[in-house]
Amino acid sequence: MSAAHYDAIILGAGAAGLMAALTAGQRGRRVLLVDHADEPGKKILISGGGRCNFTNIHTAADRYISENPHFARSAFARYTPADFIGMVNRHGIAWHEKTLGQLFCDGSARQIVDMLMAECRDGGVTYAFGQSVSTVDHADGLYRVTIDGRDHHGPALILATGGLSIPKMGATGFAFEIARKFGLQVVQTRPALVPFTLGEDEALFRSLSGVSTDVVTHWGKTAFREAALFTHKGLSGPAMLQISSYWQHRTPIAVNFMPEEGADWLVEEKRNRPRAAFRSALARRLPERLAEALGSRLGLEGELSGMKDADLRKAQQQLARWPFNPNGTEGYAKAEVTAGGVSTRALNQKTMAAAKVPGLHAIGEAVDVTGWLGGYNFQWAWASGRAAGEAV
Ligand code: FDA
Repeated sequence: MSAAHYDAIILGAGAAGLMAALTAGQRGRRVLLVDHADEPGKKILISGGGRCNFTNIHTAADRYISENPHFARSAFARYTPADFIGMVNRHGIAWHEKTLGQLFCDGSARQIVDMLMAECRDGGVTYAFGQSVSTVDHADGLYRVTIDGRDHHGPALILATGGLSIPKMGATGFAFEIARKFGLQVVQTRPALVPFTLGEDEALFRSLSGVSTDVVTHWGKTAFREAALFTHKGLSGPAMLQISSYWQHRTPIAVNFMPEEGADWLVEEKRNRPRAAFRSALARRLPERLAEALGSRLGLEGELSGMKDADLRKAQQQLARWPFNPNGTEGYAKAEVTAGGVSTRALNQKTMAAAKVPGLHAIGEAVDVTGWLGGYNFQWAWASGRAAGEAV
């Protein structure tokens, strides 16, 4: 049987692959979109608690982690959140801003997948879902991809198979494998937007599982103000997920449990409510169980009136810079994204094409561009997918 010919073969029908496919297809290119999963966009379907936080209106390159933070600028300038919102509006999908520029569907994430598939259909994209890719080769200017024993070839190959996060949903390191095979560098990968684990020495905090509070987390000069959540394994919630993407093993993070209160807040409490117990003063600002745990760690028991101002100021300082020493993270099994990936040094920022390997492109999470929590990762998938789809 002779090989089927396409202008572009796209491996991975997630957010980035779908965007690349619909863009190239609508430009009249013959596109084959391949995925080993039996349906496209599985991560889109579970994203944003089932409502898909599909973009963030504050998208800017400085909200992404990469060896080259400037790399993504060009793609973001050419495909903006407003462009994606335009597509969502054309499809009559209702949406709302939740917080911090995060846009969600009012209904379900399924609407985003249906929209992208409808756009792919308009572009005449051919699908090969539920099929495995066994080999990928390049000779005489053509990529030859064997899918379920059948050969397909074309001058352009787009790697859009994502990263290693959530292997039980079909995530693989396939893009990295193929990139290395063609001589592209891959920046060391690590789980990002991932909960921290705490050791036995922090068992007191693990016993607070389910307690959530607004904090500022710090790692080095990086800080996020959002909610933190204690879990039976350690620390989660948006503030912790955000800082996890920057964190390096065996370093502490610092948590400000009282972001609103000044250095003298406890002293003022003592003046205003001298008979109040220390932990009930804390409980005016923090969930009761957390106030109790912090009070017992600080070793301050009894009424505020019996405490020295200096001790209260010291306690306030500790509450504003509480050190945690995570002993690790929950790993790829729970990581929302994979940091690292195909090095941006190897890629052209306008086309996502490998400079030294004609016709090979890498997009989405497979590339060493990792966004903050809050719709930033999908915006990168859309923008990089668009860039590659316009180039093939
Ligand atoms: P993606 O992982 O989406 O797609 C890769 C595709 O390649 C998959 O369909 C996979 O089956 C396929 N594939 C993998 N290996 C293959 C192989 N060997 N052969 C063939 N096919 C293969 N981001 C955001 O901005 N807003 C949000 O609300 C959320 N929410 C969220 C929730 C959860 C639980 C997770 C895990 C992640 C998020 N994210 C998110 C992150 C977001 O899902 C992620 O950044 C994008 O899906 C990345 O898109 P890609 O297309 O690059 O990879």
